[in-house]
Amino acid sequence: MGGLKDVKLIVDGKRLDGRTVEDLRQIKMQVGVISEADGSAFIEWGGNKIICGVYGPRECIPRHEANPFRAIVKCRYMMSPFASLEEHGRSGPSRRSTELSKVIREVFQNVILADEFPNTEIDVYIDVLQADGGTRTASITVAALALANAGIPMKDMVTAVAVGKGGDELLVDLGKLEDNFGQSDMPLAFSAKDKKLLLVQMDGLLTLEEIEKILEMAERGADKVSAMQVEALRKYYVKDEETKFKL
Ligand code: CDP
Repeated sequence: MGGLKDVKLIVDGKRLDGRTVEDLRQIKMQVGVISEADGSAFIEWGGNKIICGVYGPRECIPRHEANPFRAIVKCRYMMSPFASLEEHGRSGPSRRSTELSKVIREVFQNVILADEFPNTEIDVYIDVLQADGGTRTASITVAALALANAGIPMKDMVTAVAVGKGGDELLVDLGKLEDNFGQSDMPLAFSAKDKKLLLVQMDGLLTLEEIEKILEMAERGADKVSAMQVEALRKYYVKDEETKFKL
């Protein structure tokens, strides 16, 4: 009997949702969605719905964690108990949420100009309300918007996309079934302008030639996501043609 594992990820050259190998899912972003946060953003990426609130730079608690030379970056990724069938009825931290919090924190530690804010902490809270594959890359994308909205200085904007292989094809922006049942998945985060790799993880196997090709496909995907981030920020800050800024 064929189970989900036998699902054909490519049919007549198209993916399960009709996309070509390089198409992204539909993405919507909104900046400034939480009134009490210093910066915030919301993203819908395919079926993912993720909200991020940023607080700080603020006094580091507990104080003994404070660094007299730089701000420390804290990150908490969490999936709601109703975010997916797998998470149904569960909540609270897990091995997975601990891993994702760590890798997302490390991405931003490498771009935030933390030495401008000694003895402080910058908190990045990410809540996944609905999950549909690629939550870590969507989380990084929305957290970059929330950090920008909080006015946290960064070397560059950060943009992320997951690529991989399914049905023997190299794919950009894996959906949940492609992520769970494909041959390989590789979440990547880039600095937006100079395309430095800030996160590389990988499941499954790819040849060197496939990796070279998929990195190029990922850069093209990241460019599209990056343009949407710029547009979301522009929409928040630019009130009218005279470019008035929100106070
Ligand atoms: O979300 P991301 O692809 O970054 O991470 P993953 O651990 O590879 O999970 C792939 C997908 O499986 C998630 O996006 C969710 O849709 C689903 N998942 C879930 O619903 N509950 C979990 N505990 C783990 C994964």
